[in-house]
Amino acid sequence: MGRFDGRVAVVTGAARGIGFGIAQRFAHEGARVAVIDLDESAAKKAAAALPGADKPKTSHLGIGCDVSDTASVEPAIERVVSELGGVHILVNNAGITRDNLLFKMTDEDWDLVIGVHLRGAFLMTRAAQKHFVAQKYGKILNLSSVSALGNRGQANYSAAKMGIQGLTRTLGIELGPFGINANAVAPGFIATDMTDDTARRLGIPVEDFRKMNAESNPVRRVGTPADIAAAATFLCSDEASYITGQTLYVDGGARLD
Ligand code: NAI
Repeated sequence: MGRFDGRVAVVTGAARGIGFGIAQRFAHEGARVAVIDLDESAAKKAAAALPGADKPKTSHLGIGCDVSDTASVEPAIERVVSELGGVHILVNNAGITRDNLLFKMTDEDWDLVIGVHLRGAFLMTRAAQKHFVAQKYGKILNLSSVSALGNRGQANYSAAKMGIQGLTRTLGIELGPFGINANAVAPGFIATDMTDDTARRLGIPVEDFRKMNAESNPVRRVGTPADIAAAATFLCSDEASYITGQTLYVDGGARLD
């Protein structure tokens, strides 16, 4: 028996990185997973690589969808319900960065980042909650970040990630009476394409950038998608049904210093 047998989990931005790690863990523990990402062929490829993909009862679904676009989000959730037979868990993980110091940050870079993280989480949650409320069951997990606490060059990202925490608390209050839990995880440095891209932008070799971040972390290593997946799946499990509106920092103690 897996913790998520019979459940359908939607994970946005799951074609790679942390989202794929979370999708793997859900699938490993029995869920059918809808992998949502910008490019449908990448989403389908990721869905086909998940545990259980070869068995008809646990096969998964890949959907191309821009989470910041209402016209894309609403049909995506309806496809999940019709093709996988329901929806029980939503993980709002899709994300981008457009870093720059405030005086160089463009309107477009502000809007893009707020659009994907904050508007995206809002649109996906609004579309999914209809089903959650009707069935009096649902789990929502949002991806925040240690950058929510402020980070040089990330005014847009930091605002979006702290916004996610406010959204999560409000979802906890509004949706709690309907059997729905909403929580967030706030990762520290996780080794993915996103942080590798940051290294390249800063002109630092990827391995050196990871090493630098590991050395300054209390647990002396960088995080992996599996570290985030462990926390995310716990918060979406029935064992965590008395936890709602919370943000759990999964950062190796990075913000303790
Ligand atoms: P990543 O860049 O490896 O993957 C992000 C995924 O989101 C990609 O597959 C991308 O195509 C997808 N995506 C982007 N815009 C989208 C849109 N509009 N609609 C649908 N999908 C879209 O990033 P990573 O590192 O896996 O990050 C995942 C989440 O974790 C993000 O929300 C990120 O902000 C957050 N996070 C990451 C940290 C890290 O150190 N990697 C630290 C803290 C938070």
